[in-house]
Amino acid sequence: MNQTFRRTGSTRHRSEPRIVEEIREICRPAAEKIARHDGEIRLIGQYDADGISATAIAHRALERQGKNFSYEILKQLYEEDVERIAEEDEDLLVFVDIGSGQSDLLKEHILQETDKQVIVSDHHDPALDEEESGNLENLIHLNPHHLGYDGGEAISAAGMTYLLAEEMDEENRDLVHMALIGATGDVQKQEGEFLGLNQDLESLAVESGAVERRKGLDLYGRTTKPLQKSLMYNTDPYLKDVSNDESGAIELVKSAGVDIRKDGEFRTLADLTEEEEQKLIRNMIKRGFDVERLLNRIYTLENGYEIDEFSTIINACGRLGSPRKGVKILLEQDLELAEKISRKYGRRISSSLRYVEDHKEDEDVIYEEEIGVIDGKSEVDEDFIGTVTTITMSNGFFDAPVVMGVADAEKDKVKVSSRADKEAVEDGLNLGEIIDEICGELDGEGGGHNVAAGAKIPQVNKEEFIQKLNSMVSEQTA
Ligand code: C5P
Repeated sequence: MNQTFRRTGSTRHRSEPRIVEEIREICRPAAEKIARHDGEIRLIGQYDADGISATAIAHRALERQGKNFSYEILKQLYEEDVERIAEEDEDLLVFVDIGSGQSDLLKEHILQETDKQVIVSDHHDPALDEEESGNLENLIHLNPHHLGYDGGEAISAAGMTYLLAEEMDEENRDLVHMALIGATGDVQKQEGEFLGLNQDLESLAVESGAVERRKGLDLYGRTTKPLQKSLMYNTDPYLKDVSNDESGAIELVKSAGVDIRKDGEFRTLADLTEEEEQKLIRNMIKRGFDVERLLNRIYTLENGYEIDEFSTIINACGRLGSPRKGVKILLEQDLELAEKISRKYGRRISSSLRYVEDHKEDEDVIYEEEIGVIDGKSEVDEDFIGTVTTITMSNGFFDAPVVMGVADAEKDKVKVSSRADKEAVEDGLNLGEIIDEICGELDGEGGGHNVAAGAKIPQVNKEEFIQKLNSMVSEQTA
């Protein structure tokens, strides 16, 4: 990664980190273009947590400037979408978290065929490099890869769009937490810590009070589950008499001198004061538990949610087919809606994971060669195969560097999702490139990052796709 600080000459924010200044600089012409524009604007975002956060940021920034705009959120930007958008009325198009991977299509169908102005604020691997983008007069392409940063981990589209919004108006600094929600959704927080440019955004968020950061117990359900459930669900490290044992977990909390309920309701870990959490930690250490492994940086949003859990809810809105609800939750702080989405999503994930569990002996559905494969057929929704693939990769279900999930999609196609483990990526594996290459050979459309990539391919090419991915991963990890 290029860590060189470029001199910007700006002295606007003396005490703040300097690396993001490079991105601010490339955002400036885009902010000016938007400010000057008095016609209609179309905002187009992607449907995951990062895309929804980026859309919410751009939405609020455009609204504050009194712009006339409409927005749509897409699962992916396929060629047919680009062709359709080329025909729409708006003469300024702002793409967020989508568009870099398809910038060649934007060039072909929009920039060469129409007079529309296009701004892309994204972090996916760009199809057009910095020079090719720069040669297109009506395109402003904001992408960290063009500055030598890895968009897979250094900054997300929400981060890029936040910096653009900040260039539009300093008032938009109150949106910085959304940049971190997006980055978290794209798994840019590793072992509890943000990396690269995200660290600068983290500092801004913590200093402004938009996010509280402290060290604490990193347990699942910190803000959404009763404390004893968070403790009993934890099995790594195994907590003797607590893991898988609800009454044991309750006993652990009580013996630490911490109340399990408040006003008759079970408390979550997030409900505990810092002092109570310390008491619980001390009690766990006294019992000989390896607590160090459970301690991580915890980021809590002003609305009380731990950032990973909130980001999951925003992501869930897209997966459940209601990405606009995610924008609403972010912009209107609609926590009742957030709760509702969370419960619905939990039920859908459980049933998708049950499919994996129920078919684990069925070699036609679940098998392992160089890669682990889950064929969800028509029983796992195409919107859930990505999540199933992520969970199956992270819980070690397969002993493989890559897990691939497939599920039937509309129009005789299948949705493909792939995830790689950290070591394989560190050794140079890049799923985004591999998937892109196979798509070129097998009439698919896809792309992504080194750790995660997806595609849509014709149903008839499914087996060949799996075999090609298998052999390419095998070659690259040999
Ligand atoms: O769909 P899935 O969750 O598997 O996608 C993994 C990653 O690949 C995401 O970052 C997504 O944006 C990207 N992707 C892409 N083009 C596609 C499908 C997925 O860039 N056609």
